[in-house]
Amino acid sequence: MTITEAADQVIRERRSIYTNMFSTELVDDTIIEKMLYNANWAPTHKLTEPWRFVIFKGQGLQDLAKFQADLYKKHAEKNGNFNQDKYDKLKTKPLECSHIIAIGMKRNEIVPEVEEVCAVASAVQNMWLTASAHKIGCYWSTGGVAFYDDAKPFFNLGENDKLLGFLFIGKPKSEKWPQGRRKPIEDKVIWRS
Ligand SMILES: Cc1cc2nc3c(=O)[nH]c(=O)nc-3n(C[C@H](O)[C@H](O)[C@H](O)COP(=O)(O)O)c2cc1C
Repeated sequence: MTITEAADQVIRERRSIYTNMFSTELVDDTIIEKMLYNANWAPTHKLTEPWRFVIFKGQGLQDLAKFQADLYKKHAEKNGNFNQDKYDKLKTKPLECSHIIAIGMKRNEIVPEVEEVCAVASAVQNMWLTASAHKIGCYWSTGGVAFYDDAKPFFNLGENDKLLGFLFIGKPKSEKWPQGRRKPIEDKVIWRS
């Protein structure tokens, strides 16, 4: 396979693999390190390199589960919309993963915020493609406490920074890789010549 064919394949076959598709086997840290190394090569306007990551594994996953369930409970009780099922999921889902990477954006005033979000998303895509190339499952979750301002300090983020969600990572149970679904690119493109 040529390098261009390999690039096409990894891009087109990258899929969201959810926790119910994970086995209990752990992903080797060397793959996580490679994902992080490749994240660091994302494009970044004025080289602000705004991506910040916290990796949770082992006891770290237990700590994250407790933290997010407790914080959700605090918010939901205050707003009068506590949901036991949601609380239970926040407390157990991290434990179904091998690793979780919290995705942070360190704000730098020299470029508009949207550019910093774009740079971090590019870094996440690099990690996701790397995982897929290794047949490691992952998906980007913006659920849970991702958008709670008071969650930020737990992820080493300041008040002007942003938490952009979590990459849930695990080894797939099955060798069967899910099919993707997209509407044709022609519906989303205008050529002017
Ligand atoms: C910024 C972002 C946030 C996402 N958040 C969630 C989420 O909270 N829960 C979820 O199930 N999937 C989430 N996803 C994954 C999408 O649902 C998934 O990418 C989409 O269904 C397409 O499937 P594919 O990734 O397998 O091609 C998110 C994806 C992106 C890019």
